[in-house]
Amino acid sequence: MAKTMLEVKNLTTYYKTRMGEKVCSVDNVSFTLADGKSIGIAGESGCGKSTLAMSVMGYYFPPLYYEGGSIIIDGKEITSLDPDTIRTTVLGTDIAYIPQAAMNALNPSRKIIRFIEDVLKAHDSALSKKEMRELAEERFNILNLPSKVLDQYAVELSGGMKQRTVIAISTILSPKVLIADEPSSALDVSSQKIVIQLLHDLMEKGIVHSMLFITHELPLLYNVTNDIMVMYAGEIVERGTAHEMVFDPIMPYSRGLMNSIIVPEEGTRGHVLQAIPGVPPNLKIRPRGCRFAERCRYADETCRTLAVQELPATAGRLYRCRHTLEELYKIYEDELPSLLDEDTGTSGKASPGGVK
Ligand SMILES: Nc1ncnc2c1ncn2[C@@H]1O[C@H](COP(=O)(O)OP(=O)(O)OP(=O)(O)O)[C@@H](O)[C@H]1O
Ligand SMILES: [Mg+2]
Repeated sequence: MAKTMLEVKNLTTYYKTRMGEKVCSVDNVSFTLADGKSIGIAGESGCGKSTLAMSVMGYYFPPLYYEGGSIIIDGKEITSLDPDTIRTTVLGTDIAYIPQAAMNALNPSRKIIRFIEDVLKAHDSALSKKEMRELAEERFNILNLPSKVLDQYAVELSGGMKQRTVIAISTILSPKVLIADEPSSALDVSSQKIVIQLLHDLMEKGIVHSMLFITHELPLLYNVTNDIMVMYAGEIVERGTAHEMVFDPIMPYSRGLMNSIIVPEEGTRGHVLQAIPGVPPNLKIRPRGCRFAERCRYADETCRTLAVQELPATAGRLYRCRHTLEELYKIYEDELPSLLDEDTGTSGKASPGGVK
């Protein structure tokens, strides 16, 4: 069995607003990511995907604050380290983060090689310019990126090339965990494919050991990641393999998400697109029961008031709903059109982990 590269246990972080209110955007989140594997994180806008990404790096600055929980990367607990130690010894090597819209944040008046030098110098101040240049060229070659880009400015690059360059810069120290936050969302379809191929190559060539891939484009996750976790209102509500999550989601929320997209595989012909009614809850107040209850057509008073058990920090099929699997399947059979084309029978029933 592959070793665990990242273990997040009961991680809770919050934003402090200017009025001093707490917005708990990552609440008691637990999961594990194995060496050589990738997990996709999906969920509606504002459900906390980017906040989870920032929180998992263990490097906090206002308005984001740490409240509790642990982050263990390759056996090293990082929440007990001070920010300077995290910046110099963890970021880039243990964990690297490509923020949402990072390619638009490149300073247009600097050559690409300067950004790479910044990252390398922060890690090893003894490196000479020549050594850094050699390292950058070698990495660009491995990744089939033209090394002339190193002497160009960000404004001279196309969107796709800019994003590939940002990915190459962020992974120059070969991180154990890479978090890519919507890396392809702003790109045209062919650039998206090239960026996805690059991420694939990084994993395949062992430059990046494991990956969290955030996107609201679920069809993309299906093709890219081993597992998918669905996030809602600051919590992970379901986890399974990409196939299980796309073709056999258990939680009403995950099912709603899958129903609101077009799944790119045969067997979904005639699939009716449905939006999830309502909006996510305001996280200034922590709801007592299931956070999706107000929008869930199957919720009753107990769902609204009874706390739902946390997901454990294990891999496998997990979901967070007080209904049993049998109850949910019965409801779905009676009320919802199946995601599957009846003819193909491509999916079996799920076998959930120890949540219930
Ligand atoms: N600086 C901030 N101060 C207060 N609240 C914030 C701040 N940044 C984000 N939030 C809130 O935290 C919640 C999670 O936001 P986050 O950006 O993590 O969502 P997301 O899932 O990444 O959304 P998207 O798909 O749009 O990128 C939202 O309710 C958002 O309003
Ligand atoms: Mg985001």
